[in-house]
Amino acid sequence: MQRRRSIHLFVGAVVVLLVSCTNDPKQTKLLYMPDMASGPMAKPQRSFLAPPLGSVAMDAILYPKDAEEAGRLLENPLAQTKDLAGVRRRGKYLYAQVCVTCHGDDAKGKRLHEDYPPTPDITSGIYPAKADGFFFHRITFGSAVMPFQGDKLDPLERWEVVMYLRELQELQEQSQAKG
Ligand code: HEC
Repeated sequence: MQRRRSIHLFVGAVVVLLVSCTNDPKQTKLLYMPDMASGPMAKPQRSFLAPPLGSVAMDAILYPKDAEEAGRLLENPLAQTKDLAGVRRRGKYLYAQVCVTCHGDDAKGKRLHEDYPPTPDITSGIYPAKADGFFFHRITFGSAVMPFQGDKLDPLERWEVVMYLRELQELQEQSQAKG
């Protein structure tokens, strides 16, 4: 009895399997590991994949458009540094590498060539009142006349240079106060 039932079950299973095998091309076949088929696909010349989350367009402007706006929006990550002396020392080193040829040792301005506008005195005048982001933007993008220096300094290094400019401004203020 037991044996007969298992024969029936076996024959039944074979029948079900045979019936479920069909050559109908419209019917979905069993997909084994369908990773490639179910992943995101772009139809050639017809659709675009959405850009991955957090990706940046090649022509994106990552910083505020002008230096004044940068002064309002950008925050100096080194403003509250515990190692002010170290930050200024690195800033001084970088200033000597990148800026000194045009701006001079003391950043008080220099005439480079009679056909080229002189660099301004960054230690006094309008500059001490400018926000840190203003200098960061000028270093990153330059101005109409000053070539941009963003390719020579990474963002943290630019902030270090800004911190050094602040030191030069402080020294200037102190020497003025002494008369
Ligand atoms: C190839 C020469 C050159 C180099 C290198 C250079 N500058 Fe200048 N910079 C200039 C000239 C010229 C000006 C004046 C023209 C102007 O203000 O647009 C200027 C202006 C500035 C100003 C005033 C901008 C304003 O809008 O009033 C700042 C601040 C400044 N430079 C900072 C720097 C710092 C910091 C570096 C180094 C990271 C640097 N510059 C490197 C030529 C240079």
